[in-house]
Amino acid sequence: MGNVNAVILGTGRAYPEGVITNADLETMVDTSDEWITTRTGIKQRHRAADNEYTSLFAVRAARQAIERARIEASDIDLLICATVTPDQILPATGCLIQAELGAHRAAAFDLVAACSGFLYGLTLANQMIRSSQSRYALVIGAEILTRYVDYTDRGTCVIFGDGAGAAVLGGTTSERGILSARIRSDGRYAEQLFSPGGGTRLQPTAETLSGGMHFFKMRGNELFKVAVRSMIEVSTEVLTEAGYKPEDIKLFVPHQANQRITDAVADKLGVDSSKVYSNIAMHGNTSSASIPIALDECVESGMLQEGDLVLMASFGGGATWGAVLTRW
Ligand code: COA
Repeated sequence: MGNVNAVILGTGRAYPEGVITNADLETMVDTSDEWITTRTGIKQRHRAADNEYTSLFAVRAARQAIERARIEASDIDLLICATVTPDQILPATGCLIQAELGAHRAAAFDLVAACSGFLYGLTLANQMIRSSQSRYALVIGAEILTRYVDYTDRGTCVIFGDGAGAAVLGGTTSERGILSARIRSDGRYAEQLFSPGGGTRLQPTAETLSGGMHFFKMRGNELFKVAVRSMIEVSTEVLTEAGYKPEDIKLFVPHQANQRITDAVADKLGVDSSKVYSNIAMHGNTSSASIPIALDECVESGMLQEGDLVLMASFGGGATWGAVLTRW
């Protein structure tokens, strides 16, 4: 093959049946449907039951993506599971998914880049396919964030939800595929969204558990500004590199962190609101799963057609951020 682009061949999504509505949260913390709706855009979020776990939904989303890509699981030679909420510390959730799918030829691993995990995964898969190291790549974003949510902290518990999304990528010599991809991070923001306990630095003990050290802590207000600025910068970079302008975009699929972040980024970039996809009302913030879930919804509803120019952008804990421009 000549110049190969990596193109998304199929997508899938899955989430738990359980849902927490804003009305449910009103009974748990000092909050209101009005505050949550106006400050975040969220109305409900999915929540896994105690016997459900991350790879369960990852496998369901992946099976759908594989079927839609019209390949077999055994064709996959790269499997990336972006997650900050793995089934267990060892082995990688990617390997557990690999076994369940029967994707035995794949190199499978986990990627920790929080809400930017899916775009980090797409960026790596793109390079592996372009360099002919990989023929078919499966990139999954899967999270059970509600396990790490402190339901006494109104600043975080209203935001996060559970789910999984997946995409299968393959090579093409057509004009389609990923045109430009950029990933970035800045560890100086590490403590703006983090889970201090449970690792080697602050080992899990009865004290760390009772002190809630394994829960997510977030300085949302400070992150908000960095998120908007970073997503605009990186989106502008990928558009410029590929020789496009914001008005050329058919669909903008940002990480679903907060409706106000999405609106501010789209507005400052100059993308018309009619081209911006949002599902945050129904899912909340599902971290690495939010973009692949959104893509799959767009495909299913017919919003996304072959040849469309699609911009994806994300920002998350780390801090990490990124953007991918693709011709669908
Ligand atoms: N219900 C009611 N009041 C709440 C509340 C809730 N669920 N959460 C916070 N508040 C209160 C605060 O206590 C504060 O009250 P005070 O003024 O009396 O001190 C007030 O609302 C404003 O708090 P603030 O944190 O400034 O709110 P905000 O407008 O920034 O919204 C977030 C909070 C978390 C929704 C918002 O900051 C956000 O989405 N940040 C970005 C998160 C992000 O991008 N994370 C990384 C990617 S996942």
